Amino acid sequence: MSVLRVLHLSKAFGGVHAVENVSFEVGEGEFLALIGPNGAGKSTCFNMINGQLAPDAGDIEFAGRSIAGWKPRDIWRLGVGRTFQVAATFGSMTVAENVQMALISHHGEIFRFGAALASRHRDMAIELLEQVGMDRSAARACKELAYGDVKRVELACCAWMSRPQAWRRANATS
Ligand SMILES: Nc1ncnc2c1ncn2[C@@H]1O[C@H](COP(=O)(O)OP(=O)(O)OP(=O)(O)O)[C@@H](O)[C@H]1O
Ligand SMILES: [Mg+2]
Repeated sequence: MSVLRVLHLSKAFGGVHAVENVSFEVGEGEFLALIGPNGAGKSTCFNMINGQLAPDAGDIEFAGRSIAGWKPRDIWRLGVGRTFQVAATFGSMTVAENVQMALISHHGEIFRFGAALASRHRDMAIELLEQVGMDRSAARACKELAYGDVKRVELACCAWMSRPQAWRRANATS
């Protein structure tokens, strides 16, 4: 069964038809790449899938449910995460601290800059970093990382944090 179905999706900005009648499906455990030249409409497509833009036409189904036009927060709560085109981390903080910061935010907790992060959500941060193969770089400052590794940290912060279904299943207690 498809986890994600994008059906005849379209979006125009004035006379610019950024996305026109795009359809694709992603099955469970499948990796799918969306490729195309600059301005082809890739980001616009992702922005509709995660709710930042409402489609002009078409539908988006996640796990059999239409989510087209939903708010990003509600889509996130379903377990759909995303990263952004330009990866952004706190460069002077370590890899682990970046994920800890994201966890603090995710839990709606308060953090004062200058205060030590110490062990707050540390174990969970390392667990998320393991998922993206960055646990061995936990103590490195993000500014030292190659761009691809920054994207991995962002993936741990943004995507895994919404606890996608595969993650929920893997961590489910029976
Ligand atoms: N908010 C916006 N307002 C007006 N035009 C936009 C907006 N967002 C995107 N566009 C236009 O829509 C088209 C598709 O842009 P989009 O950013 O989706 O392309 P892309 O495939 O992600 O490109 P890139 O490879 O450069 O990231 C472009 O012509 C772009 O200028
Ligand atoms: Mg883009």
